[in-house]
Amino acid sequence: MSSKDTFTTGVGPTRSRSAELTSSIGIGFRQLSSPSTLVISLSVAIVTSLAIISTWIPAYTDLFVSVRSFSGASSGRGPSAELKASILSRCAALKAVPGPPSSFSARDESDRFETGTNATLIRNAKIFTGRENGTEIIHGDILLDKGIVKGLGKVSGRVIDNTPNLTIVNANGAWLTPGLVDLHTHLGVLSAPILAGAYDLSSNRGPILPYLRSLDGLNTHDESYELAMAGGVTSAQVLPGSSNAVGGQAFIVKLRKPKDRSASSMILEPPYNLKLSVNEPSPEHAPFRWRHMKQACGENLRIYGNRMDTIWSFRSAYNEATKIKISQDGFCAKAESGLWESLDTPFPEDLRWEMLVDVLRGKVKISTHCYEAVDIDAMVRLSNEFQFPIASFHHAAEAWLVPDVLKRMWGGAPSIALFATNHRYKRESYRGSEFAPRVLADEGIPVIMKSDHPVINSRYLIYEAQQAHYFGLPASLALASVTSTPAAAAGVSHRIGVLAEGTDADVVLWDSHPLQIGATPVKVWIDGILQIPVPSKSGGETIVEIGKGKDGDRWRQIPETPNWDKEKNESLRWDGLPPLEGRKVQGKVSFINVKEVWRRTWNGDIERAFLAEPSNGRRQRLGAVVVEDGKMTCVGMHCDDLKADSKTIDLRGGSISPGLMTYGSPLGLEEIADESSTGDGQAYDAFRHNVPKILNDVGGVVRAMDGLMFGTRNALLAYRSGVTLATSSLEKPIYIGGPDAHIISGLSVSFRTGSAHAMQRGAIVQDVTALHVVLGKSYLLLRGISVSTQIAALRRLLYGWESQDKETGYWFRKAAEGIVPLVIEVDSADIMANLLILKADVEDKIGSMMRMVFSGATEAHLLAEEIGNANVGVILSPARPFPMVWDQRRILPGPPLTNNTALVTLMEKGVVVGLGIRSAWEARNTRFDVQWAALESNERVSQQQAYALVTRDLEKLLGVRGVDEESGDLVAYEGGSMFDLSSKAVGVISPARGLVDEF
Ligand SMILES: *[C@@H]1O[C@H](CO)[C@@H](O)[C@H](O)[C@H]1NC(C)=O
Repeated sequence: MSSKDTFTTGVGPTRSRSAELTSSIGIGFRQLSSPSTLVISLSVAIVTSLAIISTWIPAYTDLFVSVRSFSGASSGRGPSAELKASILSRCAALKAVPGPPSSFSARDESDRFETGTNATLIRNAKIFTGRENGTEIIHGDILLDKGIVKGLGKVSGRVIDNTPNLTIVNANGAWLTPGLVDLHTHLGVLSAPILAGAYDLSSNRGPILPYLRSLDGLNTHDESYELAMAGGVTSAQVLPGSSNAVGGQAFIVKLRKPKDRSASSMILEPPYNLKLSVNEPSPEHAPFRWRHMKQACGENLRIYGNRMDTIWSFRSAYNEATKIKISQDGFCAKAESGLWESLDTPFPEDLRWEMLVDVLRGKVKISTHCYEAVDIDAMVRLSNEFQFPIASFHHAAEAWLVPDVLKRMWGGAPSIALFATNHRYKRESYRGSEFAPRVLADEGIPVIMKSDHPVINSRYLIYEAQQAHYFGLPASLALASVTSTPAAAAGVSHRIGVLAEGTDADVVLWDSHPLQIGATPVKVWIDGILQIPVPSKSGGETIVEIGKGKDGDRWRQIPETPNWDKEKNESLRWDGLPPLEGRKVQGKVSFINVKEVWRRTWNGDIERAFLAEPSNGRRQRLGAVVVEDGKMTCVGMHCDDLKADSKTIDLRGGSISPGLMTYGSPLGLEEIADESSTGDGQAYDAFRHNVPKILNDVGGVVRAMDGLMFGTRNALLAYRSGVTLATSSLEKPIYIGGPDAHIISGLSVSFRTGSAHAMQRGAIVQDVTALHVVLGKSYLLLRGISVSTQIAALRRLLYGWESQDKETGYWFRKAAEGIVPLVIEVDSADIMANLLILKADVEDKIGSMMRMVFSGATEAHLLAEEIGNANVGVILSPARPFPMVWDQRRILPGPPLTNNTALVTLMEKGVVVGLGIRSAWEARNTRFDVQWAALESNERVSQQQAYALVTRDLEKLLGVRGVDEESGDLVAYEGGSMFDLSSKAVGVISPARGLVDEF
């Protein structure tokens, strides 16, 4: 089999594509367990060695120095004067120092300026400039003209008078920041919705591909550009994927659509060698600009061997580049000394290696995807062996544990680009920590928050900064982590990420302090051109209400955050894996300085049971809560007598309220998503496998309860964040599960997240909760089952044509009769409509009332009324939508793009709605999801209703029984309520377990 053939077989590319996507997205396909993957690995290894050793790409010669010009000139006189000059200037260019000319800030027009753009003056803003480590705040005005910042602070009347057609915006004291810079995205190369025809993430042609350019795959129709701008992101680095040691050249782009609609025009500063047009200045005369490149190491390189192979592929590649660099330097030394006669070869160069030669010359800002200490250490050694700097490590889950290693990097410590709380999706991310940003900042290492879009929707980049701040990163650095710090790491802070006279006019005006949860841009400009609100294509402006209810002064302030010193130190002491179990306290516990208590009522509502009297002048009088064996025995101002002989926990103005619930992820069914040996493993899918005879069941219906594991880190972190109850099923949406997605996904289980094992008192809340199925279109080349086949099967099962003596017939009959809820993972409105018709048919036939629930349900808002009329419930997951695949493309994005969110639309039609998640690490962020949902609704969803989305209503939809006002867990928050960033959960009161768990 020739090496080329291996890439044209049907199985190969399909498999590696999907495997790569999932590892990039962090959801596993268990790639190594598949025999077809192993075949690929072997054949790829052959190609790999070919790519390193052979010289099948012809040597590159350019216009100035070609073999022909030399041979023509070698008749005695040496090269012509013209050629000599060209060689000399080319040699001089090798030594050029990257970066803008010193006169840059004095420019009076941007090279990106679009003629016809009017100037804008924003008055009376609180301006975070990004300068001085994020500490500079200016109260005043900012003038945007000719694509740049023309005035900042006090803009003189003379300048204003001399600026024609000036648009004036009054900020009324609101916060204004530079446009956000997302240093790690796959915008345009992994576009939304994902379609096989526009999947240009990474090549599978070898580990070392420095000649590939993300620009060449940049889809200009990615729906994510507008969504990201709606979150205040104005520039992003477009990185190739991480399946190669050197994945290719990266580009910093601006997200607005340029006038000529080209990918090229999106580039912030096109590097000299792009050949955008024939009239371009030659390299030696072009302005020198930083180039960008992606490297990766660790698990994602598995298709090319192991960690040792990866580092060797780096070393052999940089060795090749070093040879070229040395011969170039030798050549130029001779030319510069006038030894023309001894120059009998062309200028040494090779198009394959020129990028790495530029790396060795210090002209490239490298972004290296690298997680573990072993990988980071190896890359630092590589940087010292070949003497080049790495600008930033990305993901870098263990960077916070090895600051001294980072400081050994050639040229100094790199910046570290992180997720806030997205960890544990694979082995190398297992020790990732929410405290990493703060620990690194304490070490003086620059911290960047990034999205890895679409892993996290770039639109919520600011939310990453908000979480980093919540867990201890100072506010100035948290805002810098998405503006000036990434811009500096990419060598572009003379233009973006910073507001100063002469920088690009990329500006965001926010509805609150940007570190407040739910912060939303009111207006966004790029190059001085208004992008948000989106100008209506049919003329006029769409009026979207933003930030209703955020008038109070507290929204304008930096949010107060809890003290995490203890947790941070524990995490460091335990090498990233601190014990997470609470300390069990039986007997009597008094919570003092309690400001609020919320409780369940008999009908499941959540109501405030106690609120301390408002302070009258001096100190506020706060209440107490006394708990005995996990039961509240006194609440309020009169518990003093009962407090005797108890353990006391000071809530410092905090609150006690019902624990939250999570649904939609494999929480409790896995420890590390990509390591199948840490989870339940692979069940049989009746559509793809023959369910083994021993199950004696055509559909292979199994119970999640049987695969449940307690004490997973994601479950315990959820628990410590106030999420006390989980319902988990084996269902995985097709776009996440790929070949592992089961159309018949069995029966879910409900359990307490803080329990130690299934036999502990109160651990299992319900062993069979609901019946789950997954419907949808397969994506990429996964060759799934057609939607019509899926629905045909579902119809057959609900019509009762399988024997009720077997699991499948039994449970689908119960679903048809409305005894167990039928939870259908589905996103497309077309499929939902067919399901509503099917439901009516079944009910007609049986005389029943099914309890049908749509989960995922991205397009449910299109059918809100019909869903409401059919009494079907909806679990929106993820809580904030993204059009990842075709079935999800018609999202309702909410402010600042639309007035309505899916939640509001559904609730207004009387649909019972819950919020869900996709990945187990997200469970801990449930309280923030609820806050986002309430805030995005512009006061149409109250805090109480929002609370119900992850308690009462979610329980009701899934059919969770046995959580009531007597038995439901309560969470104690110190320093505020569940809705305040100033609070953190410090304990759980568990009547069913008869104890208080203290954190
Ligand atoms: C610029 O301002 C002028 C005068 O107000 C107006 O006629 C023109 O439409 C504006 N141009 C744009 C692009 O908004």
